[in-house]
Amino acid sequence: MLLNLSLLILTGVVAPSLAKIYEDVADLPGLEYDFVIVGGGAAGNVVANRLTENPKFSVLVLEAGVSNEGVMDSIVPFLVGNLFTGPNAYEWNYTTTPQIGLNNRSTPYPRAHILGGCTAHNGMVYTRGSAEDYDRYAAVTGDPGWSWDSLLPYFFKNEKWTQPTDHHDTRGQFNPSVHSTNGINSVSLSGYHWPIFEHHVLQTTRELPEEFPFNLDFNSGQMLGIGWLQSTIGGGKRSTSATSYLAPKFAQRRNLHVLLHAQVSRLVHAQKTKQGAVTFGGVEFLQGISYCESLFTAKATKEIILSAGSVGTPTILMHSGIGDRTALTALGIPSVLDLPSVGQNATDQPFIGARWSVNSTQTADSISQNATRFNEAYKEWNRTHTGPFVEIPVTHLAWLRLDADSPIFENVTDPAAGPNTPHIEISIGTGGVAATGNFISLGMVVLNPTSRERNNCGNVSFIKRIAGGSVTLQSNNPFDPPLIDLGLLKTDFDIFTIREAIKRAYRLVQAPVWRDYIIAPTTDLSNLSTEALDQFIRNGASAGAHLVSTAAMSARDASYGVVNPDLLVKGASGLSIIDASILPFITSAHTQAAAYVVGERGADLVKERWR
Ligand SMILES: Cc1cc2nc3c(=O)[nH]c(=O)nc-3n(C[C@H](O)[C@H](O)[C@H](O)COP(=O)(O)OP(=O)(O)OC[C@H]3O[C@@H](n4cnc5c(N)ncnc54)[C@H](O)[C@@H]3O)c2cc1C
Ligand SMILES: *[C@@H]1O[C@H](CO)[C@@H](O)[C@H](O)[C@H]1NC(C)=O
Ligand SMILES: *[C@@H]1O[C@H](CO)[C@@H](O)[C@H](O)[C@H]1NC(C)=O
Ligand SMILES: *[C@@H]1O[C@H](CO)[C@@H](O)[C@H](O)[C@H]1NC(C)=O
Ligand SMILES: *[C@@H]1O[C@H](CO)[C@@H](O)[C@H](O)[C@H]1NC(C)=O
Ligand SMILES: *[C@@H]1O[C@H](CO)[C@@H](O)[C@H](O)[C@H]1NC(C)=O
Ligand SMILES: *[C@@H]1O[C@H](CO)[C@@H](O)[C@H](O)[C@H]1NC(C)=O
Ligand SMILES: *[C@@H]1O[C@H](CO)[C@@H](O)[C@H](O)[C@H]1NC(C)=O
Ligand SMILES: *[C@@H]1O[C@H](CO)[C@@H](O)[C@H](O)[C@H]1NC(C)=O
Ligand SMILES: *[C@@H]1O[C@H](CO)[C@@H](O)[C@H](O)[C@H]1NC(C)=O
Repeated sequence: MLLNLSLLILTGVVAPSLAKIYEDVADLPGLEYDFVIVGGGAAGNVVANRLTENPKFSVLVLEAGVSNEGVMDSIVPFLVGNLFTGPNAYEWNYTTTPQIGLNNRSTPYPRAHILGGCTAHNGMVYTRGSAEDYDRYAAVTGDPGWSWDSLLPYFFKNEKWTQPTDHHDTRGQFNPSVHSTNGINSVSLSGYHWPIFEHHVLQTTRELPEEFPFNLDFNSGQMLGIGWLQSTIGGGKRSTSATSYLAPKFAQRRNLHVLLHAQVSRLVHAQKTKQGAVTFGGVEFLQGISYCESLFTAKATKEIILSAGSVGTPTILMHSGIGDRTALTALGIPSVLDLPSVGQNATDQPFIGARWSVNSTQTADSISQNATRFNEAYKEWNRTHTGPFVEIPVTHLAWLRLDADSPIFENVTDPAAGPNTPHIEISIGTGGVAATGNFISLGMVVLNPTSRERNNCGNVSFIKRIAGGSVTLQSNNPFDPPLIDLGLLKTDFDIFTIREAIKRAYRLVQAPVWRDYIIAPTTDLSNLSTEALDQFIRNGASAGAHLVSTAAMSARDASYGVVNPDLLVKGASGLSIIDASILPFITSAHTQAAAYVVGERGADLVKERWR
């Protein structure tokens, strides 16, 4: 009796909010579905939600990670830093290969291992990118459906613009005409304020309007300038693809099943169709809580959809025999489909931070360094979901271009998608890290690194030497982590741009308004030789954790690429990829909004195929 009751609780029958999110494969009604989606992250949960709008479709989501229920560090925005401090229960615990551009350092490479994927443990920054980023996707794929104008309705299906929890007057802080209040995923302006700091940032846009103009809304497609931060937060809580697209009213759909602790190893039972395309009869996965794991196979009668993200998706493809034939054969993996682009052109954005001590106690340090205030703030959040814990302490983002006559363009074609697309991001926030005192922090990002590619330098021997980022296999064991080489700061352009970004950050805080506010930089970078600055960068930079392009979309007749513009894998049938790995170039922004919109349009493309 007792046993039966605990089984009922475990399988969720008595806990309605968990109704269709399973922890144990034994509780699934079966292993055959119309669609099997691999990965319950940003895009995967969108696709699961949209496909099950049609009651005739049955959908299984296989997610390797753990449940997001009750994970306070994920739910409470201010606590997000706890998720990035090293190996933890919500992480794949990856490390990059030694990065030549980082003086051969390997860096931890966070990827989420929790329902909601990286939306459940990211920085919550909501940035779509520039209109030109998407227009370039349309141009290189030959499908106008990937243009900014065509995708805007999909951004709107995703976004549920929400009032901040402090109910402040938000006029002048965003442009309502480029937002939607009836999507699914909450987005809001900050519900907590740092008035003195914010005044300084806004005053900078008045004092230095040429270099740092105010931009009412950088999510309009026109990004340049400084604008107010927008975040995937609603009601003071993080909004993830799990809390939104798998909210109880969706998760309870009879045709939607989500299985946790289910790590997909590979696609199996490869066959050739009469037309010569490869199909797979099953999705193999390991399930179980450590002490009793075993392999199972799920079957998709219509389509297998890979949404395992920019690391997971190419890894599964390669273990399934889809990738560079020579490389796979060398590892003892039988080649099923020769697609040398799988795992190549991997792109992430180099990042470096700088801090200044300030003559103000109105900084996030006053909370993070003071246990009394920290507990007060946590209590307030627990009681009413208000106060400083409703946000991260970044208030604005700056989006800047290199000078048109910059000497770097003598040798390098501008990698930005167009003349209105930024090269540099500077995040502007209060609070330092692991130091006593009051600080402000600026985070500098190279938005369009050239290190991705083997062919952007005009010098063949040089090109070979600097081959860009990649995700490859170290063995034929699907449970070994892949080799993640981000190729960070390998090119002259990338190091030039990050140097320039640091100079811009120093110019930003030289606006007169900061004079009596800033005391000193924690490390003075303003007067270093280029060599010394480069050493500082190479010893301190890391990745933005925005990996894309590892299973890139290309035109139907292109000689490279992994998926066609309809997101079906080239040369395969009944197999598609819907996640950030398909983006042919990185957005000039943080990447979750792009991943969500790939999910929204991708779901529509699947629905069209199976009407
Ligand atoms: C630390 C960090 C901070 C970030 N901050 C921001 C930010 O502030 N703003 C922003 O816009 N973007 C941010 N991003 C990036 C953004 O979150 C991602 O681009 C986006 O979530 C990618 O969506 P996706 O669907 O491609 O993959 P993911 O969201 O990563 O989802 C993939 C899912 O697949 C699962 N999976 C992988 N392999 C397997 C397998 N073999 N079997 C079963 N399941 C598997 C994973 O566990 C995961 O749940 C951040 C990312 C990280 C890692
Ligand atoms: C990552 O490391 C943490 C802490 O050691 C562990 O709990 C977690 O299970 C690891 N993640 C994976 C996917 O193994
Ligand atoms: C990094 O490693 C490469 C290859 O092993 C080596 O040639 C180079 O000198 C190393 N660089 C540094 C800064 O140690
Ligand atoms: C990388 O992307 C470029 C387009 O930017 C393309 O020409 C090249 O073929 C791609 N490389 C691979 C290995 O797919
Ligand atoms: C901080 O500001 C006060 C006045 O507002 C001034 O008296 C003091 O000297 C300043 N401290 C520093 C370190 O600049
Ligand atoms: C910590 O915060 C409490 C409550 O606001 C305050 O009384 C105290 O002075 C603060 N301590 C320090 C060291 O600033
Ligand atoms: C807030 O609630 C969480 C979850 O219930 C709990 O772990 C935490 O201790 C609480 N914090 C405070 C300060 O009340
Ligand atoms: C451009 O390339 C030339 C020739 O290699 C070199 O002399 C020059 O320094 C380069 N310019 C920049 C800005 O890197
Ligand atoms: C190409 O790059 C290599 C290595 O940097 C250099 O030695 C060579 O002179 C370059 N060739 C041309 C034609 O610029
Ligand atoms: C910058 O460095 C130069 C040379 O090392 C020195 O002469 C100059 O005084 C320094 N300027 C500042 C502002 O520190």
